[in-house]
Amino acid sequence: MTKEIRILLICDDEEITKFLREKLIIEKGYFVSFESSGSSGIASLRHNTFDAVIAKCPMRDLDSVEIVTGLKKIDPDCVIIAFVEQVNNKMLGYLYTAGIYDFITPPLNIEKLSFLVEKGVQLHTLAQAARKLSQGLKERNEALEKQNTLLAKRIEDSTKNLTRLYEDLRLTYLRTIKSLAQAIEARDSYTRSHSERVSKYAALIANEMGLSVKEIEIIREACELHDLGKIGISDNILGKPSALTLPEWEEIKKHPVIGAKILEPLIFLSDVVDLVRQHHEHYDGTGYPDGRSGEDILLGARIIHLADAYEAMCSPRAYREEPFVKEKAVLEIKINSGRQFDPKVVEAFLKVVDKF
Ligand SMILES: [Fe+2]
Repeated sequence: MTKEIRILLICDDEEITKFLREKLIIEKGYFVSFESSGSSGIASLRHNTFDAVIAKCPMRDLDSVEIVTGLKKIDPDCVIIAFVEQVNNKMLGYLYTAGIYDFITPPLNIEKLSFLVEKGVQLHTLAQAARKLSQGLKERNEALEKQNTLLAKRIEDSTKNLTRLYEDLRLTYLRTIKSLAQAIEARDSYTRSHSERVSKYAALIANEMGLSVKEIEIIREACELHDLGKIGISDNILGKPSALTLPEWEEIKKHPVIGAKILEPLIFLSDVVDLVRQHHEHYDGTGYPDGRSGEDILLGARIIHLADAYEAMCSPRAYREEPFVKEKAVLEIKINSGRQFDPKVVEAFLKVVDKF
């Protein structure tokens, strides 16, 4: 069954209205709603649905453009066929710009009008389908955008949580490892708080050498853990009050490697591992465990080595009756500049030693 075509006829000429109603209703079988003024025609479109509008342009109450604009404002897809009694190209231009579909002129040819109506109806149906589709897409896009925003917020929250968890985990690990290092230090009454002092001295030297806050922080962490590998050395060797035998000395020399191996699996301490491994290397290559020299030794490790050596000289030891006085320790460092110690590190050390 074909859908009934619904026409809105806006016309203030009784004769034309009568003619069109008869022809369109009786001959063509359209449903025709009639309005005798431009404003009532626009109001009728607001409350009803039509497939096409035939509007006399102009009407007595509204000019041609006002009628078309008013109708289009209510239904942007409505098909308007203008009935123009006097053709004026300029006016037709305005009407097309305002949105008419086509126009007819007297004498009225009902077949031509019917042809325009039916083409217009097809256009109206297509325009409405396109608008519906476009509206659907717009709504879908909006829904997707909302989902995206929600998702982005969730990802942001999750990332924050993960970052927090990672940092908590990192700190927990670090605290555990540091406790372990402190416990190892505590085995030997002579070396208690040694790492703490080494850390302080190394930070002062590093700061004097212009290292960044981050680099200094890494050096401090390495200082606190540098002798962690002594966990693998027996108490008898560590606390031996007399000179070490060669095998005992070889045993001691393993501690930087043992320490680095313990720390290696902890990815967040990757910057610290090599500093721990290299903290007994000498500038002239005579150190251990790898015999590295010069700039082949990490700067942080060269700094830690000097701070470690200076602290050891100034502190009591089982194998030595009295610690060095400060002046003697400083002199010892100066003598070994360019040999055991990096001259640049010695230079910075001499500038800050009074703050130790
Ligand atoms: Fe050490």
